[in-house]
Amino acid sequence: MREHERIQRAAARSLDRLWPRVAQVFAQIEGADEDCAAFEQRLRREWPRLFSLLLGLYGTQYDFFYQLEQLALAMAQSWLNRPRWLKQRDRVREADHEWFQSERMMGGVLYVDRFCGTLRRLREFIPYFQELGLSYLHLMPLFAAPEGNNDGGYAVSSYRQVNPRIGTTAELAELARELDAAGISLVLDFVFNHTSDEHEWARRAQAGDPDYQEFYFLFPDRSLPDAYERTLREIFPTVRRGSFTWRPDMQRWVWTTFNSFQWDLNYANPAVFRAMAEEMLFLANLGVAVLRLDAVPFIWKRMGTNCENQPEAHQIIQAFNAIARVAAPALLFKSEAIVHPDDVLSYVSAQECQLSYNPLLMALLWEALATREVKLLAHSLSHRFRLPPGCAWINYLRSHDDIGWTFDDNDARAVGIDPWGHRQFLNAFYTGRFPGSFARGLPFQENPDTGDARVSGTLASLAGLEQALDLGDPAAIDLAIKRVLLLHSVILSIGGIPLLYLGDELGTLNDYSYVTDPAKADDSRWVHRPARNQAAMEQRHDPTTAPGRVFGELTRLIRLRMQLPALRDGEMMVARSDNPRVLAYVRQGDGQRVLALANFSEQPQPVAGNLLRMYGPGNAFIDLVSRQTISTAETLTLQPYQFVWLMPTWLAERALPES
Ligand code: GLC
Ligand code: GLC
Repeated sequence: MREHERIQRAAARSLDRLWPRVAQVFAQIEGADEDCAAFEQRLRREWPRLFSLLLGLYGTQYDFFYQLEQLALAMAQSWLNRPRWLKQRDRVREADHEWFQSERMMGGVLYVDRFCGTLRRLREFIPYFQELGLSYLHLMPLFAAPEGNNDGGYAVSSYRQVNPRIGTTAELAELARELDAAGISLVLDFVFNHTSDEHEWARRAQAGDPDYQEFYFLFPDRSLPDAYERTLREIFPTVRRGSFTWRPDMQRWVWTTFNSFQWDLNYANPAVFRAMAEEMLFLANLGVAVLRLDAVPFIWKRMGTNCENQPEAHQIIQAFNAIARVAAPALLFKSEAIVHPDDVLSYVSAQECQLSYNPLLMALLWEALATREVKLLAHSLSHRFRLPPGCAWINYLRSHDDIGWTFDDNDARAVGIDPWGHRQFLNAFYTGRFPGSFARGLPFQENPDTGDARVSGTLASLAGLEQALDLGDPAAIDLAIKRVLLLHSVILSIGGIPLLYLGDELGTLNDYSYVTDPAKADDSRWVHRPARNQAAMEQRHDPTTAPGRVFGELTRLIRLRMQLPALRDGEMMVARSDNPRVLAYVRQGDGQRVLALANFSEQPQPVAGNLLRMYGPGNAFIDLVSRQTISTAETLTLQPYQFVWLMPTWLAERALPES
């Protein structure tokens, strides 16, 4: 407590000393009084937290106060530069923190170059995004990056310059505004763990500038790299062993967690933190509503650990969060931590990342589809789904990355599953090596030493559509489409923000042509990053085609969700179904209550009427999906892969009058 008070006093004193300098930033501009007052109010509110985080990280450095001052000045300047429409949005969203928890929130993600080529052309697709019901659009990395292999844009050479092939930074800012006018919030990546080796900072380091060499981790020989590697996990073992890259031009080993051209930034250096904070504010002022914080677990290194999820990683993100609250108040963070579920959760709070990918739900939905059993899914969800207030999951089925089996080993053992064997089975199942599997996926990063692997493949190919179409088997096609819809039904109804990988709404299949491109050939994730399929898009209103069937039913569900406040983000309770193949959960909100049931098998499955009665008053339910009335006097039989959203009849009549 004494220590806490001491820090608070030091924070207040520092701010008193700094404030006159900061106020000057505003004094230079005519009519900036209001901006100055708003900024000062937020700075005073956030300062104690920001100061104490930075003191903990950098307080022992001789230039701490200098860095602090520069940071405060940069924040003030950034707020001054912030476009008027964004300040307006800041006000609206600050007054309505829960805006992203609405039942109308619906996410989409795409690569601009794969989808339509350029930012300019992307504008033509805004009506399509609206047809899908999107209110959140994540454009995959689109900044300047090395030619050839650049890890799908995740090797950034400049955070301020859009890749000229895709467009210009001015076009991006314009697009952000146009999307906003269409009710769509722009999401971009903040690739802050590393830069490309062509970023100006890296180039200066290569040229021998010691200040920039300190931006990265450089070693003259193998002694430290060897010592670190004793406890590091290899991320891309089939591309390059270990986590360090030898640079003959510099005669140095460079820390490269991912590819050899992605140089990890050294956040122990306060200059790195400040430089990246400025890049973050630049992105915020382009009109970004949500920043996806890439690879969060890796940003702090500590000898003797796996250098993932270190306490300082949290402090750094929290400090960025405090900066955002002051200089770009509406900006939200989405955590990309694809790690153990406990660690995933550790990044989620209103003070850190308000949003997070939910890799556990993603992986376990696929697990349940393979096993036709929901026990691991239901058990894990029952104690791992709840988030702190003011936070939401981003629930997704596919991303541009591989699927890894990130469930907790003890959760698996608790339901009688051997975790190691199960992961082997799941990899075999989804790469088509398991007899009778419907899935067509590819292995990703098989590690010959550990036997670990992950899976690549599009949603539809993993769900069996590719195989079924090849066989020309209408019954198999039917089942595959049902699997696609079943998985979507869960992310649409379980809470959080559902996120679609664009193309999945049309049942897009694997694209094996990446192997002919040397820059992509050794990265199987490209199999599920195909170019937009124009033909499929044109078939979307034709229910005799597979794309039309998926699109028609999916958009109907998305619209239905928008009418159901019970499905907004909030409480979710796993319910009993007394049937190992049926997932059951209850959602409630705004006086509504929905019991969702989902059959994960291709056989009809019974659910006892008594059980349904337990979850809602009255003897009759309406299934909002099929509009059928269900009497709890009888056993409910779910058809293969059928899902129902049940609401007591009297409530349903009020919730959805005559639609
Ligand atoms: C994240 C990205 C992935 C990339 C990695 C390195 O995990 O999603 O695509 O390879 O970070 O930036
Ligand atoms: C992250 C994840 C890993 C994922 C990779 C990108 O490092 O931890 O599981 O595969 O990004 O592929």
